[in-house]
Amino acid sequence: MRTPIIAGNWKMNKTPAEATELIQALKPLVKDAKCTVVVCVPALCVHAAKQAVRGSKIKVGVQNMHWEPKGAYTGELSAEMVKACGVDYVIVGHSERRQYFGETDETVNKRALAVVHAGMTPIICVGERKEQREAGYTDDLVAYQTLTALTGMTPDEVKKVVIAYEPVWAIGTGLTATDEQANETIGVIRAAIARKYGKRVADKVRIQYGGSMNPKNASGLMAQPEIDGGLIGGASLKAEDFSKVVNF
Ligand code: PGA
Repeated sequence: MRTPIIAGNWKMNKTPAEATELIQALKPLVKDAKCTVVVCVPALCVHAAKQAVRGSKIKVGVQNMHWEPKGAYTGELSAEMVKACGVDYVIVGHSERRQYFGETDETVNKRALAVVHAGMTPIICVGERKEQREAGYTDDLVAYQTLTALTGMTPDEVKKVVIAYEPVWAIGTGLTATDEQANETIGVIRAAIARKYGKRVADKVRIQYGGSMNPKNASGLMAQPEIDGGLIGGASLKAEDFSKVVNF
């Protein structure tokens, strides 16, 4: 009932010319995809990416965005700019932004609201660090991160967001949550959304898994009932690998 969504997070990789090359290679490989396919590219590659995805169903996203509409925020991008470039998805609150760039649950919420109000879809990242899982905080933490990020949205807006559950210890490490761990924590996130917005809303929200997802482990993860897709870092930088995840 929920259409799966597989999104590539290219992080700080690829020039515009390389973006064109990767997307051109990807297009024939994902032409029969049964899921939504998104590439979240560096903002400077959006123009090239938009041209390259023509004639395919691949959507273009970016990896961050500011919440203010305009002004003295050196280095930032506004929703209006991002939207005007034809972007449909914006990653918000990735753990690398939380870890290296001072992102907090409150700023994640502001960004997510700005994305939604501009008519785009946020991919809101939540997830625990290793020591938090070991201390038994995972469920409370991801529920808190999720509900804080959604604060101020209407139930109809909540239905359309995408959440990415990304255990921090699994990102770029080659360690993946087991299929059952990922399914269970995503179930916790959905239950938290259901408690606040009702089951009918929660049943619509697409919740991805992210963290060392690759062609080998994608089908097992995607077979889990709560998992609606993936946010793919390393494996999204090669057309063949990413297409194998898309065609899980
Ligand atoms: P990874 O990254 O697939 O390289 O672990 C996932 C992410 O950071 O979104």
